Amino acid sequence: MIVAVDGPTASGKGTIAQALAAHYGLPHLDTGLLYRAVGRQVALAGGDPDREADALAACDFPADLLTDPELRSEASGGLASRVSVHPAVRQALYQRQRRFALQPGGAVLDGRDIGTVIAPEAEVKLFVTASIPARAERRFLEMRAQGRAADREEIAADLARRDERDRTRAAAPLRPAEDAIVLDTSGLDRDAAVAAAIALVEARRG
Ligand code: DC
Repeated sequence: MIVAVDGPTASGKGTIAQALAAHYGLPHLDTGLLYRAVGRQVALAGGDPDREADALAACDFPADLLTDPELRSEASGGLASRVSVHPAVRQALYQRQRRFALQPGGAVLDGRDIGTVIAPEAEVKLFVTASIPARAERRFLEMRAQGRAADREEIAADLARRDERDRTRAAAPLRPAEDAIVLDTSGLDRDAAVAAAIALVEARRG
């Protein structure tokens, strides 16, 4: 079984994908991490994330970069969003994601274009979403728990900016696949969101 979990930043898609993988005993790939690694590598190399050639060169990032805690930062998320608009970057990362999806036992992948581009044949496609205020609040609490300075207004503005870029880019824009089930997690806590996701997978599998 291939499970595709797409949606915007801080919608809960990562948490849901992880929980589904644990529940069904499937391997999980957070594909955003690949774009974050490319963004971080461009910065480390002194390149320009908006230049396709610089971003493409960064797709050769060293494997251990994927475990760099810095990839989770807002800055890396912003860089990831910028490098991910380049078709050459998306193409360079395609095979790796495709191979992961096609593992014999199945897999769970989360990202922006899993149901539309990477694994359009996925048995189950969830599009996880939530309102900007709900997502900003989660990010705010997360940052505060990490002891980092955070401002709700600033976070909300940054989320809106990234949504806009991810949705309006020409290459593999963020959008639900036609056969995706939309799950709005705005009013749900972690456990309720995970329970809802499992119920939807069960319903889809029949
Ligand atoms: O899910 P995330 O916040 O880690 O993703 C960071 C950025 O990477 C996101 O703004 C857009 C890009 N991305 C993408 O274009 N396609 C994916 N499958 C995953 C992420």
